[in-house]
This record gives sequence, structure tokens and C-alpha cells, in this order.
Amino acid sequence: MSESSRAGIASDVWTIRRLLTWATEDFQRRGIESPRLEAELLLGHALGMKRIDLILQFGIVLSAGELDRIRELLRRRRSSEPSAYLLGQREFYGIPIRVDRRVLIPRPDTETLVQVAIERSRPRSAHGRALDLCTGSGCVAIALAKHRTGWSMLGTDISDEALQVAEDNALRVGNIWGLGWLRSDLFAEIPTQRFDLITANPPYIPTDELSTLDATIRNFEPQLALDGGPDGLHIIRRIVHEAPEWLEPDGIVAIEIAFNQAAAVTGLLNARGFVDVACNKDYGGRDRVVSARWAKSG
Ligand SMILES: C[S@@+](CC[C@H](N)C(=O)[O-])C[C@H]1O[C@@H](n2cnc3c(N)ncnc32)[C@H](O)[C@@H]1O
Repeated sequence: MSESSRAGIASDVWTIRRLLTWATEDFQRRGIESPRLEAELLLGHALGMKRIDLILQFGIVLSAGELDRIRELLRRRRSSEPSAYLLGQREFYGIPIRVDRRVLIPRPDTETLVQVAIERSRPRSAHGRALDLCTGSGCVAIALAKHRTGWSMLGTDISDEALQVAEDNALRVGNIWGLGWLRSDLFAEIPTQRFDLITANPPYIPTDELSTLDATIRNFEPQLALDGGPDGLHIIRRIVHEAPEWLEPDGIVAIEIAFNQAAAVTGLLNARGFVDVACNKDYGGRDRVVSARWAKSG
């Protein structure tokens, strides 16, 4: 059996159209979501072509070298590697964010965190200081920095590797001023200063549930980005407890949560003395971000 037939691609003539149809059907059989889109993105990446150009050049016959590159990408996708890692990029809040296995892939639901942060920090929109805990790829900090141009922004993470990705992303996006990065276990290394806004998309999945996650997540994304301890709230509890020491009077904290954690996290914020506690839903209508105001000084 030839290499190509072993990969499911027969060794005769393969046009873009034929390969797209074949890969789409193969992904569909394997239960991969949006099979056509995935096939187009991977094929476009392998050939260095935009999706529209694939369609305009449907009839082009692929060379042996091109087929090899495509075959390798399809093999990795079939073994559950997320397409964002294969493409090296995911769009977040309209910004291309580079990703690899050092960081969590930014999710559309996390755009709700950015929206809530922008909305709730509007009263002091001209100047301010923001802290993005658990920054990972830096997607939230970068999106906020682009919208709050007069603000200074600090993105922190416990992972040096994640911070390298975040820093690289900020440089690639360019034209972002006042954005810095720091390695810190939550607030531990943060210089004494207070912030007008603290955002966080922390790990919040209960440890027992990690093994039940889809293989795309379980086998490829960093466990450090997912594991929220026995009840999923380990890091969130620490953030709620420590945040008041780092907030200006009337400062805002906004935290991404799992769809079923709203009552618990709202309760934690109320018990700690926060006011105006609110919960916002994601694009799918599920509870996703809890935010609150710290009205006191200190
Ligand atoms: C769910 S990911 C979020 C990444 C990014 N902010 C996003 O929204 O896509 C959580 C991040 O928290 C970091 N992290 C885990 N424990 C931490 C801790 N104790 N202190 C700071 N960061 C931590 C992980 O390294 C990971 O990058």
C-alpha cells in the first residue's frame, strides 16, 4: 500500500476540490465540528492560500510535496490536535493571537470578559491601571490595551512559557503602549500598587472532570490552564480574597467562570464585601463572567 492510500488519499490525481471534499467527509465521519471549515483552513494553511483562493482555484492539481504537507496536517487533526495549534493562530476580539501548546487557545466565550471589563470600567475610561491575572496567550490584556489606550496594563501568569507567547503576541499586534508582563503566582510578585480593573480567566475545571474533557482539550492544552482544584474554585477563591488589597476604591474585578459557578462565585464576592455583583452570559446564553465593585479603600 502506498503512503498516500494509507493516509486515505489515493495516489492518482488530486485537485483542491477533490481533496476538500474527501477531507470534509473524513472529518464529518470522525465527528469533528464544522468539518468543511476545518478542511478549508488546514488546506489553505498547507498551501499558503486564503480560503477564497482555494475556491477560485478548485481545479489545481496538487503536487506530491503539497499532498505530503496536507497529509501530515490531516493526520494531526485526526489525532485530535486542535486546529488552532496546527494553524498557529486563533482570532480573539478581532485580533490574531499566536498560539501553541504553551497556552490555552482563546475561546469566543472569553470575549464576554473583555466586553464586561470595558463596560464596567467606562466611568474612568480616559486613564487607569488594569491587571490581567492568568493572562496565558495575553489575549484579554491585549484586547483591553487596544480599547483602553490611555491605560497602563499588566498581564501576569505563573507560567514563564505562557508569558513568552503573550509578549510575542503583543509585539506582533504592535502599536500597544503601556502593556507589561510579569511572572507571578496570582498577586504574589505584583509591585505595591492599586488597579482600577482586575480581570482573570483562571483555571476553573474541577480536577476530577479533567479526564472527561474532549481529547482535543485533555491531550493538548496545558493542564495548568484548566485545573481549578477539587471543586474548580481554588484559584477563584484566592482571587476574590486577595483582590481588595490591589483595587482602588470603586475598582472593578471581572472573573470568567464555568457555566455552573455563578451562584458560588457571586456568594464569594458578596461575602468578601464587594458590591454591585453581576453575572453576564456568553454568546451561548450561559453564565460566563461575574464582576463586582470594591467600594471601600483598602
Ligand atoms: C484558562 S487559562 C486563560 C488564558 C487566557 N487568559 C485566556 O483567556 O485564553 C489560565 C491561565 O492561568 C495560568 N495560571 C494557573 N495558575 C496560576 C496562578 N496560580 N497564578 C497565575 N497564573 C496561573 C495558567 O498558566 C494559564 O495560562
